[in-house]
Amino acid sequence: MSNQPTKMWSGRFREPLNEKFEEWQRSFPFDYRLLPYEVEASIAHARAIAAAGILTGEELLVMEQGLRAVAKLEDIAGNEQAEDIHHFVELELTKQIGDLALKLHTGRSRNEQIATDMRLYVRDSADRILSGLRQWALALVTLAEQAGEAVMSSYTHLQRAEPVLVAHWLLSYVGMIERDLSRLEDAKARLSRCPLGSGAIAGATLALDRTIATKALDFDAPTANSMDATSDRDFAIEFTQTLSLLGMHISRFAEELTLFSTAEFGFLDLPEAFSTGSSAMPQKKNPDLTELLRGKSARLFGASATLTLLLKGLPLAYNKDLQEGQEPVFDAAETTLGILRLLPAFTTSLRFRYDRMKAAATAGYLNAMAAATYLTHKGVPFRKAHEKIGHAVRFALETGRELNDLTLAELNQFGPEFSEDFYESVTLEATLDCHDVIGGTARHRVRQALIDTRQRLEAEAGEVRENQ
Ligand code: ARG
Repeated sequence: MSNQPTKMWSGRFREPLNEKFEEWQRSFPFDYRLLPYEVEASIAHARAIAAAGILTGEELLVMEQGLRAVAKLEDIAGNEQAEDIHHFVELELTKQIGDLALKLHTGRSRNEQIATDMRLYVRDSADRILSGLRQWALALVTLAEQAGEAVMSSYTHLQRAEPVLVAHWLLSYVGMIERDLSRLEDAKARLSRCPLGSGAIAGATLALDRTIATKALDFDAPTANSMDATSDRDFAIEFTQTLSLLGMHISRFAEELTLFSTAEFGFLDLPEAFSTGSSAMPQKKNPDLTELLRGKSARLFGASATLTLLLKGLPLAYNKDLQEGQEPVFDAAETTLGILRLLPAFTTSLRFRYDRMKAAATAGYLNAMAAATYLTHKGVPFRKAHEKIGHAVRFALETGRELNDLTLAELNQFGPEFSEDFYESVTLEATLDCHDVIGGTARHRVRQALIDTRQRLEAEAGEVRENQ
């Protein structure tokens, strides 16, 4: 059996570590999450050193089997001996295959290992998040399809603005998600460089063929500079920043639903399965889910801020400070995945009160812009048309009516250009359909946008399935 020292670096030390310091500096209580990636990266490295003549073919086989057995260990988080995930794998591999395990560290350093493990963790998490996000986007599209031609008021300054299709409102969130998807894909493409072979800082001390590990770990290429590779955490920053933006979108959605579910708006009844009661006020149904969504987005911003501050001012290359960059990444990934486990089902269960939404869209002069546009078609300059309709709105307000309730004689006080066809140009349908531009809320534009969006999302999901 091995007489392996308990640390990976004990040789030059005579005194034992201060016990409290030892406990305090360990990363295993959180980096145990990296086990599958540490094992994959170790297998990749084993292949590279075997090719360099450090391991025989037989030894490589034993090493790979041992590593795969280590990957299967469960409930490892409580291990008190391991300093970090690298130490843990070495200790456990030694239990599996004896001293042969100690050859694995030939030509490598924990500095390149942690850089590699973190890239693999981020890539894997990004894939899971991408798939959860696509599901949420499709849930929104389905909800938008179900809404058909239902209308709601839109808001600027949180004051009623113009009528829009409910589907148009929902698709605005799909637009945000599609940008989040592309940012994640983009970040994934940039992180696809393999740090293995970078050594501690200056490059491996063995003439390793770096393409071996690169291929084994499915990276696009080896990293180009060993100092950069061992100290770079841009990929982690990009990941958390991307998640912050995504969290911001989720939080805005959550905020709108929270607001729209109040008695004051009454646009939807929150699903009971996703709401809670009050221990004090028996009548209450509280929007805990949307509130927590809003709250959890703060953690994502926290993660990206921590990482950016951590890296700013760090001299090259590896510094132990970098260990502090792990937990924010884990927390951001796990928080986002937790959210995405709920959001699609929650979204699917939403039931809108279309009558209330329509009422909000048809009272309060939301057709005033359409009315002004009517006058511009009669040759009135828009500035003048705006003024005439403003006067008409003022008159209608004072007599407690809507624009379309005014008689032609009344309208003609404000301009001779009004005639019978005014009324058909300010109906709800006309008010929607006059926004007949790409990206507008005209009914046929939204119908087309729904078709295009669903096609795009399903095509992407199909591509992902094919690549797997
Ligand atoms: N646990 C360490 C980290 O997360 C691994 C790298 C340690 N390297 C070192 N030179 N002490 O950063």
